[in-house]
Amino acid sequence: MAGNRPVAHLAAPRNWINDPNGFIWFDGQYHLYSQHFPYAPLWGRMHWTHATSKDLTVWEHHDIVLFPSKSYDSDGCFSGSAIVKDGQLLFFYTGVDYVEADPENINKVLHDTYVACQVRIASPDGFTFDNLAGKQQVIPPIKNQALGSRYHTRDPKVWEYNGMLYMILGSKVQEPGKETTTPKVLIFRSKDSYEWEFLNELASYGTLGYMWECPDLFCVDGQWMLTMSPMGMLDIPHVHANQAIIAKVGFDNDTGEIDWDGKTYQFVDFGLDYYAGQSTLDKDGRRIHVGWLRMTEALPRCDFMGVYCFPRLVEMKDGIIYTPVHPDICAHFTDVCTEQTLDRSKAFKISATLSEGQQIKVGQYTVTAKAGSIVADRTGMVGEPKMQLISATPALDEALEVEVYVDHCVVEVYVNGGRYAIAHIVNPEALAGELSIPEGASIAQFA
Ligand code: FRU
Repeated sequence: MAGNRPVAHLAAPRNWINDPNGFIWFDGQYHLYSQHFPYAPLWGRMHWTHATSKDLTVWEHHDIVLFPSKSYDSDGCFSGSAIVKDGQLLFFYTGVDYVEADPENINKVLHDTYVACQVRIASPDGFTFDNLAGKQQVIPPIKNQALGSRYHTRDPKVWEYNGMLYMILGSKVQEPGKETTTPKVLIFRSKDSYEWEFLNELASYGTLGYMWECPDLFCVDGQWMLTMSPMGMLDIPHVHANQAIIAKVGFDNDTGEIDWDGKTYQFVDFGLDYYAGQSTLDKDGRRIHVGWLRMTEALPRCDFMGVYCFPRLVEMKDGIIYTPVHPDICAHFTDVCTEQTLDRSKAFKISATLSEGQQIKVGQYTVTAKAGSIVADRTGMVGEPKMQLISATPALDEALEVEVYVDHCVVEVYVNGGRYAIAHIVNPEALAGELSIPEGASIAQFA
């Protein structure tokens, strides 16, 4: 089975993973947990699995750390985050209790009704979790349905500022007399990590779908940014309706007010496989983020469903957001080679400046400069349901420099130092054909 597994990207140990959770640098390594269904390569009653890495590239998988054990998380430990507090790790996640399990698949819910609460659990080292004595329900299912949904309030992302803890949650409300729901995020605050008070909220302005998942709010060089994954934001054939976006916003630490028009944003990744991203600080204190690359079907010789993109820096340059590959990952792609000497069983990177019409071709996968944008085409390389086959970045009025990372079943294209990114899941066997690069381009293998 090893053949088509990515070597430099985190993939499910086996069976299923979705969102990245609890991403943190602690005690000399990165800990990255995942939404995980351990019994089959499909979504079901959620656990958290655990991987560690020193360089964000080579990941070691460990045991499951969180599993359903309480009535309030008996049907799953949904997404959440971690912070370091007093030398230990504190985790917050959403516990869910299905109103009615599907009798034909008890790991799934009927009627989309997950009674949802927020749970705290501490760990001294990131490996040891007491699923029986260590869990505490800190925010019970929401009663006030004008504030947020009892069934859909989830994905706590927690950070510390000025001795206080802040939590952002995704939610939605049912408007009286309307069929649709209004998506929102809720901000809570706590002094001691146990008692949380509601501070503020931001609701949709009639845009961006019906429910916001996995919100994250952080500051880079004085600029606040909101990332989240709105459900139902697109209505395009063959493209997943749920997508991840990033926006520059204002945030007031005292009032919890988020200042944003709800209209100015961009996709985190233009491949549109990326979803449910989460940020953290790297070992040097830089903001980084990672996201789940959705797969709609198991790929040949892959015994897993779910891969993450490379962790990326989040930077601001002249008011523009850049998300380049983390430099510790770039540092692995140093073994320079040619088309003839490249070992195609390894991960590799192609670097090139593309002028209009120029193209990089890896098997059936093409990256082309067209009218100021970079267009990545994976037609014929994935099953079509919910996958965008041809992805284009917005047009840029500057030379187009690309870095194309090829790692078995993942291709990532970074344009102009992370100005835009396109990550694609592909059938690895369709990458095996002809490799062609324009003059002046270079290739480096993973080492
Ligand atoms: C996003 C999401 C989260 C939820 C988790 C459940 O993909 O739906 O909102 O916590 O997955 O696995």
